[in-house]
Amino acid sequence: MKILAPSILSADLSNLTQQIRLAEIGGADWIHCDVMDGHFVPNLTFGPIIVKAARKATKLPLDVHLMIENPDKYLESFADAGTNSLTVHQEAVIHLDRTLTKIKELGMKSGVAINPSTPVDFLKDITNNLDLLLIMSVNPGFGGQKFIQNSIKKVKEAVELRKKSNANFLIEIDGGINNKTIRPALAAGCDVFVVGSSIFKSDNVSAAATELKNIIR
Ligand code: DX5
Ligand code: ZN
Repeated sequence: MKILAPSILSADLSNLTQQIRLAEIGGADWIHCDVMDGHFVPNLTFGPIIVKAARKATKLPLDVHLMIENPDKYLESFADAGTNSLTVHQEAVIHLDRTLTKIKELGMKSGVAINPSTPVDFLKDITNNLDLLLIMSVNPGFGGQKFIQNSIKKVKEAVELRKKSNANFLIEIDGGINNKTIRPALAAGCDVFVVGSSIFKSDNVSAAATELKNIIR
């Protein structure tokens, strides 16, 4: 099953419940929450309290993407807030295997995100501890950026790595996904499609979600 994960980064946060509901009506499978600390990325967003608010607004799985330094410090807070899958950045973690184990112990799916400059192969020794591999198709930090074409090659490499290592992690793509870029990402083998501005900056949030959902269905 292919998964559409609208990112609330681009949503009207003054009306989070309604925005999530519109995405849900449109066919959202997961709700993606982008946490930024102003250090790992040059932007600040929100932390566990907004994830908790999203938890109250929907029963859909909450897919939390930590773009923060020292994520180990906050794993429990995000678990308590109602996170279903928790993704840390490979570039931000020293003992990645330990972090992934801890995320699972806390009852969440374990995810690792890699920047456009990080090779897929860096994850080859932890594939069995991995539920989700998030390939950044823009440099993390902001919504509304242009899709980096080289990401398609990385998705194919991730599909190969999964096969070679007999693993079963989902492959997620994040950044610059719209009704055009979603097609090559789908063809390359992505399972989860994060979409921010193409859904939440649209005049009709539900219709925009449905259009993308129908492409990956
Ligand atoms: C970027 C975030 C993305 C962002 C994507 O750093 O990780 O999840 O919301 O937004 P769009 O779809 O507008 O590129
Ligand atoms: Zn994200």
